[in-house]
Amino acid sequence: MSDSAQRQGDAFENLLHEERRFPPSEEFAAQALAQPSLYEEARSRGTEFWADQARACLSWETDFTQTLDWSEAPFAKWFVGGKLNAAYNALDRHVEEGRGDRVAIHFEGEPGDTRSYTYAELTESVKKAANAFESLGVQKGDRVAVYLPMIPEAVITMLACARIGAVHSVVFGGFSADALRSRIDDAEAKLVVTADGTYRRGKPSALKPAVDAALEKEGSTITNVVVVRRNNEPVEWTEGRDVWWDDVVDTASSEHTAVAHDSEHPLFILYTSGTTGKPKGILHTTGGFLTQTAFTHKYTFDLRPETDVFWCTADIGWVTGHSYVTYAPLINGATQLMYEGTPDTPHQGRWWELIEKYKVSILYTAPTAIRTFMKWGRDIPKKYDLSSVRVLGSVGEPINPEAWMWYREIIGGGKAPIVDTWWQTETGAHMISPMPGVTSTKPGSAQVAVPGIAVDVVDEMGQSVPNGSGGYLVVREPWPSMLRGIWGDPERFKQTYWSRFDDMYFAGDGAKKDEDGDIWLLGRVDDVMNVSGHRLSTTEIESALVSHPSVAEAAVVGAKDETTGEAVVAFVILRGSAKDDDDIVTTLRNHVGKEIGPIAKPRNILVVPELPKTRSGKIMRRLLKDVAEGREVGDATTLADNTVMQQIAASLRK
Ligand code: WTA
Repeated sequence: MSDSAQRQGDAFENLLHEERRFPPSEEFAAQALAQPSLYEEARSRGTEFWADQARACLSWETDFTQTLDWSEAPFAKWFVGGKLNAAYNALDRHVEEGRGDRVAIHFEGEPGDTRSYTYAELTESVKKAANAFESLGVQKGDRVAVYLPMIPEAVITMLACARIGAVHSVVFGGFSADALRSRIDDAEAKLVVTADGTYRRGKPSALKPAVDAALEKEGSTITNVVVVRRNNEPVEWTEGRDVWWDDVVDTASSEHTAVAHDSEHPLFILYTSGTTGKPKGILHTTGGFLTQTAFTHKYTFDLRPETDVFWCTADIGWVTGHSYVTYAPLINGATQLMYEGTPDTPHQGRWWELIEKYKVSILYTAPTAIRTFMKWGRDIPKKYDLSSVRVLGSVGEPINPEAWMWYREIIGGGKAPIVDTWWQTETGAHMISPMPGVTSTKPGSAQVAVPGIAVDVVDEMGQSVPNGSGGYLVVREPWPSMLRGIWGDPERFKQTYWSRFDDMYFAGDGAKKDEDGDIWLLGRVDDVMNVSGHRLSTTEIESALVSHPSVAEAAVVGAKDETTGEAVVAFVILRGSAKDDDDIVTTLRNHVGKEIGPIAKPRNILVVPELPKTRSGKIMRRLLKDVAEGREVGDATTLADNTVMQQIAASLRK
């Protein structure tokens, strides 16, 4: 096992003493959508279980003839021969079936402005946007970059692309111009949809300038930029390229027929960090993605679309915002809340005020947010009526038992079941999670595979480990919402996920099985960090640092952080002429912010004389991690120069 998996294994010893169990109440269990029989059904039906779900969750214009074609593994084809339109499934069919007046989205802006869209209204908006994009030359198969804040136009844009059969590539609004440009180039996007800006912590914050900067360098594939008016701040304008959303979408026709696309037609690309510097364009297709997201949304959260108000707090820039904001809730005809801003604006009770106001019944958020609220104190949520909450979800990183208990008691009133959902950009939808009416939950564990999913924990040799042991998390069987590849790089796809173990998908996470066989996630075993639930690669940040003229060499590690889970800590060697002072630290932090985005800015930058390397020249991040986390430095005998760690310690004492 790698060093980091070993260390995480040691940390697991503490978790093994976690004896608390929280069975669902009898009342909840009796009426829950997911009953123990769902697991039975999945076992007995095998792959056909997913055919049942595909037909139950979606309207197919043409039914499929084969459930799974795995003959070209690891390139899967699900629901072969089937044809459907994602936007039709999310919108039109609800209107046709009499649900047009149901609210699809309650939007709350950070300044307190609100808008609600019924299914009929959202359908009309998406049809207009589809017509507008087509009038700008977007056709089936074209890529559209989406660089938008959390406003309804983000969902409208994504669904308008899906309607046309264009492939959206959403780039998180917190990423920099350079990051946006490299993603535009990689996907060869034709159109960018953005906004003048948004509101952050009570102030207008700009987005359009980053698009302008991204497109400054010649040779981009972009022909038009559509700009949503959100904060009305002045923006630069490039005539002939830039168009206002108001001008092209609002004036477009609201007649638009959704043509059915092949089940395997690409739905979107979403870039995510891997172990090398270059982000991977994770490709998802239509039928399988929609089936598993809709299925899990329904059963994991025990969704009642007629009465529930669902709130997933994730930004559309991440996969959670794709699967559980844009697609699954709308496919399932649910009512959801969408909030633009930060949790502490204008006060630290904003989320709880929103839950009270909209009677949110299902809340889906990340441990980093929960830990922040814990720090702010229980008195804040206690001021609000949270009695509407009946199911709580967690995603993005392992949730520590204290945060889990706080979430249950303070937000869930000691009653609402917590579903800790493990999944990834690559898996598209939940893979490991309790079922809220079935599983007796354990604080800190994602526990069991979703019905129809085959996960396991294996050792170095790919052998399943016994209960009570740890190893690598793998998926043994193909699943409907699995990634179909890395955009433009089939070799990297095979290499990254399918080469570590034979015939198994390697997720990159360490995990343990407890005595009951329940799964506890232990974090990444590769060079990927998880900062506030956001995936960042150490290599990517190292490359950004080294691209600065003052830096000769850099090594980045993720260090434990109470609030964000992990924090970025960078060790840098400066070039001869560069000065080691506070300015250089600020300069380098800003430089990373510019190259990648503010979320990637290192919490600490430590200027050191040397980096610890093995004889083969590999940086020993394990030792740096010890330094970053303030531990005694571990075994350094394999270092090429064994005085390096002393030199580093001495330089940090200065
Ligand atoms: C981590 C986010 C523990 C994990 C949906 C995974 C989790 C990475 C959990 C994927 C969880 C996500 N418990 N760890 N419930 N959920 N992770 O692609 O390390 O942004 O590999 O997808 O987040 O992050 P991604």
